[in-house]
Amino acid sequence: MIVLDGKKTAQEIKEEIKLKVSAMKGRGERVPHLAAVLVGSDGASLTYVGSKVRSCEQIGFESTLIRLEEDITEEALLQEIMKLNNDHTLDGFIVQLPLPKHINEERILLAIDPQKDVDGFHPANFGRMALDLDAFTPATPFGIMQLLERYKVPTSGKHCVVVGRSHIVGRPISILMSQKGPAGDATVTVAHSRTQNLAELTRQADIIVMALGIPEYLTANMVKEGATIIDVGITRVADESHPKGYVIKGDVAFDEVSKKASFITPVPGGVGPMTIAMLLQNTLLAREWRD
Ligand code: GUN
Repeated sequence: MIVLDGKKTAQEIKEEIKLKVSAMKGRGERVPHLAAVLVGSDGASLTYVGSKVRSCEQIGFESTLIRLEEDITEEALLQEIMKLNNDHTLDGFIVQLPLPKHINEERILLAIDPQKDVDGFHPANFGRMALDLDAFTPATPFGIMQLLERYKVPTSGKHCVVVGRSHIVGRPISILMSQKGPAGDATVTVAHSRTQNLAELTRQADIIVMALGIPEYLTANMVKEGATIIDVGITRVADESHPKGYVIKGDVAFDEVSKKASFITPVPGGVGPMTIAMLLQNTLLAREWRD
């Protein structure tokens, strides 16, 4: 059994990007610049955005954090986005989700210039990705593809069952793994909350991508011997014995499933760290594509 080490792989990708940034600087070129918009002060969002900004600093990108009040109006937020769309010093920006309930998330995501949409959430990017055109691929599925590719996990002709159909993970990873190319060429089944006899399906899978958000849902009896397991779950579960008062749990019962798996991602330290590395990769692409 091989653990797909996302922490180590993300570090390697960041080092590769750092070298490219040094070379840009050496040639006297402008370095990539990422901005992050955070509305309100949700604890988890603050942590994520903080990591994104810190990672930019580590690899030599410029970064800007834009913090806005929780009660900002939708119109005022749209105006901020227009400013960022028109800011020629910026290569890309993200609006951290979730947004407060009074703001229509879809309207905000649609307002982002697709050429600066390094999260890959705009329909123009999603459509381009689905049509095999150059596009910003959402960071989490992009990170999964990188892990599969770099660890040379066999995917061609394999049966992959994706559990979850979210716009950010399940839907895009099902498209990417069915496409031609590295980590692709799989036969993909998308399962979700209405799927009947899920265990029957997962037991047939060579690769299982769990993106459900239910802690330790996938158990050993649902998995074939030798399967590859990708765990996208990151649920905070209350645990008073821990200093933070919670622990992070994946969608996979790691201890029992890992005994049957050929490759498996841990939580934490699997898919999670890859997402930031891929956001940085998209920002580098945005910088290169702007020339
Ligand atoms: N919230 C949780 N994940 C993400 C992400 O990848 N991008 C943004 N913008 N918000 C998120």
